[in-house]
Amino acid sequence: MQKILITGGTGFIGSHTVVQLESIGYECVILDSLANSRPAVVDRITKITGKTPVLVEGDVRDRACLDAVFAAHDIDSVIHFAGLKAVAESIREPLRYYDCNVSGTITLLSAMAKANVKTIVFSSSATVYGEPDFSPIPESAPFRPASPYGKSKAMVESILTDLTVSDPAWRVALLRYFNPVGAHPSGMMGEDPAGIPNNLMPFVCQVASGRHKTLNIFGNDYPTADGTAERDYIHVMDLAEGHLAALHYLVRSDAPRLTIANLGTSRGHSVLDVVTTFARVNNTPIPYQFVARRPGDVPAYWADATRAEQTLGWKATRSLEDMCRDSWNWQTQNPTGYIG
Ligand code: NAD
Ligand code: UD1
Repeated sequence: MQKILITGGTGFIGSHTVVQLESIGYECVILDSLANSRPAVVDRITKITGKTPVLVEGDVRDRACLDAVFAAHDIDSVIHFAGLKAVAESIREPLRYYDCNVSGTITLLSAMAKANVKTIVFSSSATVYGEPDFSPIPESAPFRPASPYGKSKAMVESILTDLTVSDPAWRVALLRYFNPVGAHPSGMMGEDPAGIPNNLMPFVCQVASGRHKTLNIFGNDYPTADGTAERDYIHVMDLAEGHLAALHYLVRSDAPRLTIANLGTSRGHSVLDVVTTFARVNNTPIPYQFVARRPGDVPAYWADATRAEQTLGWKATRSLEDMCRDSWNWQTQNPTGYIG
């Protein structure tokens, strides 16, 4: 069976992907600096799958560490999740973001080339599209990243594209995620943000659990059906399965060198949809108030995920109800995340 290096594999999306990979027999080696995750994730993975992935604590910018990982393990492919992802922080600290996300990826790719491992799935983001002209957004939409974080994703996409032109042995998948939410249905793994969450679903969970009194809904004067902003929320388990589909596709003999796909559900939900669905399926009130728009927010966007279905044979199947139920299940079982 194939052995996969998962950078950032103890993080939110990485950990769910490791579970899905292990459940169908892949062997996983995780490389993670633990900058934004906890080693306890590995115990949860073991409890769910009955298998323990190797965890190497290290940084993707550390070339010696990468060379040692490739020397010690017979890696077939890489899924590259490791990186920094907070938009506002990236505006304050651009160099840190370019160093981690861009230099880190270049170091990883150089080590892969040396080890003759040339298959990689990369975590890109819908943030590369910025404010789109229309939704659903196809992969051909122009890039308008509005933050250093978004620009770092666009830069890495260019680097990987150039690599496929330079050498026919590379097989690259650029996966552009929309808004990942939800948790493993067991309630044993989920999103564990440090500090006060910026993102909607973790904040809603913390309001439901009483850690915050009220959800601030940023803007109710958008040109949408109920005035609140719309996004394409996608269950993290669907996202994890999208990575399996991409890996299967890349090793096919007829796979092109470069595959680019949106991973989303192809539909938008408003902030109020999320709040009312969460309250209904979990039978928990979510007090909220409308406040001013958050600077930099886009009114509405969702994916055209047709290509992922046609090329990778992947389609998101889980509903907003599933996302809200699984997020709350994780939150109630782990009120303080992985510590506690
Ligand atoms: P996460 O922070 O939970 O996971 C990222 C992991 O990478 C963490 O475990 C962190 O410790 C590790 N890491 C960070 N810098 C590292 C470095 N230099 N070397 C080694 N490990 C390092 O984030 P996530 O939500 O799981 O996101 C995974 C990837 O998907 C990221 O690249 C992110 O930009 C991308 N993405 C995320 C979202 C989202 O909303 N969660 C949306 C689009 C794209
Ligand atoms: C943000 C990032 C995006 C990243 C995504 C990950 C920005 C500009 N974009 O997207 O790059 O890929 O997270 O999921 O930061 N909301 C509230 N109250 C809250 C929190 C959020 O009303 O307390 C609203 C927001 O205004 C937005 C929606 O909920 O309309 C979703 O917000 P969020 O989860 O932060 O995701 P995005 O802003 O879409």
